[in-house]
Amino acid sequence: MSALNSFFYYRDNQLMAENVTLESIAKQYGTPSYVYSRAAFEQHWKDLDQAFASHPHLICYAVKANSNIAVLNVLAKLGSGFDIVSQGELERVLLAQGDPSNVVFSGLGKQAQEIKRALEVGIRCFNIESESEVDLINQCAIEMNCVAPVSVRVNPDVDPKTHPYISTGLKENKFGLPFESALSVYQKILQCSNLKAIGVDCHIGSQLTQLEPFQDALNRMLGLVNELLAIGVNIEHFDFGGGLGVCYQNETAPSANEYAQMILDKVKGRDFEIVLEPGRSIAANAGVFLTQVQFLKDNGDKHFAVVDGAMNDLIRPSLYSAWQDIIPLTKENNTNSIEYDVVGPVCESGDFLGKNRELAIQSGDYLAVLSAGAYGFAMSSNYNSRNRPIEIMVDGEQVHVIRKRESYADQFALESIIN
Ligand code: LLP
Repeated sequence: MSALNSFFYYRDNQLMAENVTLESIAKQYGTPSYVYSRAAFEQHWKDLDQAFASHPHLICYAVKANSNIAVLNVLAKLGSGFDIVSQGELERVLLAQGDPSNVVFSGLGKQAQEIKRALEVGIRCFNIESESEVDLINQCAIEMNCVAPVSVRVNPDVDPKTHPYISTGLKENKFGLPFESALSVYQKILQCSNLKAIGVDCHIGSQLTQLEPFQDALNRMLGLVNELLAIGVNIEHFDFGGGLGVCYQNETAPSANEYAQMILDKVKGRDFEIVLEPGRSIAANAGVFLTQVQFLKDNGDKHFAVVDGAMNDLIRPSLYSAWQDIIPLTKENNTNSIEYDVVGPVCESGDFLGKNRELAIQSGDYLAVLSAGAYGFAMSSNYNSRNRPIEIMVDGEQVHVIRKRESYADQFALESIIN
């Protein structure tokens, strides 16, 4: 298994994005840079959409994975809904011409002003994560003289068997409401003048590579749906969250079809709509991160490739010990391969993109970090006062800049000196 696919692949020893060599992009636009494939985003979204074709459903792409407005617009054009966690994400969806009536609002700390804006534009549903949020959303809806559509994010307490930082459906996690209190929260919602319960929601974690935790969560949730119907909650939709894993190294994540089949088998005969919130499975392998080797350096036995990309650009390796493949843009046979730690210039020992990577490289060579389309740019920062990378979308032979490289002026624009 490899994270290479039909959108990012080698042709004549050149790493391609669709029909363009990544080396030509690196030379023209500089590095570090993010490069996405439009066709990959579209294919991943359509694979999931088609896998659920036999049942009413809505794919609400999780904006947090990659929130570039051009990316959102590509998905909006396919008819995607969106899963948001902040007003900022909502404003992006609107700028990207996404349909607000296909937006679900997750997140455990929604503020009154964010709730009001979401009510104003008419989103599909608020996923409630605490009892206090029930009161807050009801109060906002009263003030705006409207009815807020809501669903409760229930924590099914299953172990997603993924990295602890990205598992969310265990009791010890801060997300959702405990399974045991779900019914009473719905009872409370039924008493609220300006709330209408329209669904139920869960999300158990991210980068799940097995179906079993999904199955366990689904079984528990469907039992709850029966109880909710019995107390008079009209479950129009069942939101099963995101979390489907991808291949970074040699994982074999379930395919869209296997994932869908498992869900469809269990919900057969039910008339609710299925809502999904996939982020990574759509975006991760639709993008790469390009960086250039600055120096090769030896500390005794250890070899370092110092590159121009760093943890501020792509933090997953540092933050989660995530493994993402690092490969050359041009395969050359005339250099010996050596094991390198690929490190950035940021002043932190934790600043690395990959460790112990077998590479045949010289200074000046370009490298691609694969599977960087999700939680890459979206988690970038200006740490060490580094300008954030350019973002580029390849579409066939065409190359579009979808976010300019930041300049120092951009970076400093909001700051001022005091007397
Ligand atoms: N829905 C909710 C409520 C979520 O919290 C998340 C992700 C998603 C959907 C999308 O999950 P996905 O399909 O992408 O797994 N930064 C981490 C991942 C954090 C995921 C947070 N929640 C990483 O880089 O691995």
